[in-house]
Amino acid sequence: MTDRPKVLVTRPIKEEPTRRLRERCEVTIDENDFGIPRDDLLKMVNGYDALITMLTEQVDAELLAAAGPQLKIVANHAVGFDNVSLPDCTAARVMATNTPDVLTETTADTAFALLMTAARRVGEGERFLRAGTPWIWGPLMMLGQDVHHKTIGIVGFGRIGQAVARRAKGFGMDVIYADAFQLPADVEAQTGAHRVELDELLERADFVSIHTNLTPETRHLFGAEQFERMKDTAVLVNTSRGPVVDEAALADALEAGEIFAAGLDVFEHEPDAHPKLLGLENAVVIPHLGSATVDTRDAMGHLAVDNVFAALDGERPPTLLNPDVLG
Ligand code: DGY
Repeated sequence: MTDRPKVLVTRPIKEEPTRRLRERCEVTIDENDFGIPRDDLLKMVNGYDALITMLTEQVDAELLAAAGPQLKIVANHAVGFDNVSLPDCTAARVMATNTPDVLTETTADTAFALLMTAARRVGEGERFLRAGTPWIWGPLMMLGQDVHHKTIGIVGFGRIGQAVARRAKGFGMDVIYADAFQLPADVEAQTGAHRVELDELLERADFVSIHTNLTPETRHLFGAEQFERMKDTAVLVNTSRGPVVDEAALADALEAGEIFAAGLDVFEHEPDAHPKLLGLENAVVIPHLGSATVDTRDAMGHLAVDNVFAALDGERPPTLLNPDVLG
């Protein structure tokens, strides 16, 4: 028998954070790495002191009740926490944490990679070449959109949105943003960004990059009406959460040429992408790789472990999402 704290990790995480966890705790990791089916998770979750979860698990009253009173913390291995009900965690007296900051720059890189790929038809060009299509250089071949000195509209100007703005500045772009909050003047000055209403942003931007959280208010923030407002040369990038975009409406807009292209890291019904999108040359699609680098996944794993250790020590975890639970 052991009295070491018990931790369940729902998907394998990087080696070094795993080693730290094992040094101190009795650790169960689902090595299958395809997500624990909900019914299995409900059956196995009882008796743990800590859970390290992913966006693939819904953390709600049912799961917390199945986990039982020993559970102290749910450490979500992601910055997004739309899969975690904070009110349910607080009601169950369970701390909830996420992994902000450590993935900001990496996710902004992904947004920019999608922006460039979609604007300059990189994916389409690669598919074309690999298919062995006969070709010869031509002045009208596969023309894309310039990125430099264009206008980027950033929807949701938090940490990642601002990191995208810094990259855009390096490309000589004008940066406008739509957000519920006006950023302090020094932040606007650093990024050269200024705030406009969403409709104005959609009308003015050559590139629209989405960085909002998924909430009831932002679900389907982008639909047919928004695509109609956008320029027909515009490129949409989404590295936030899939349901912010009505994917069927986006596929229709791309097919009809209402916008030029889209670069998508996230999907409305993940892991599925709308079947129509997969057939469109002007849709660049990647499987939710926003923070997927060696260094960043190390940092996310370490932060999740730091959060777990703090909770086990009776301390406030560094990135606690529901401070009410301490009161
Ligand atoms: C996040 O951190 O929210 C990503 O989407 C998953 O890595």
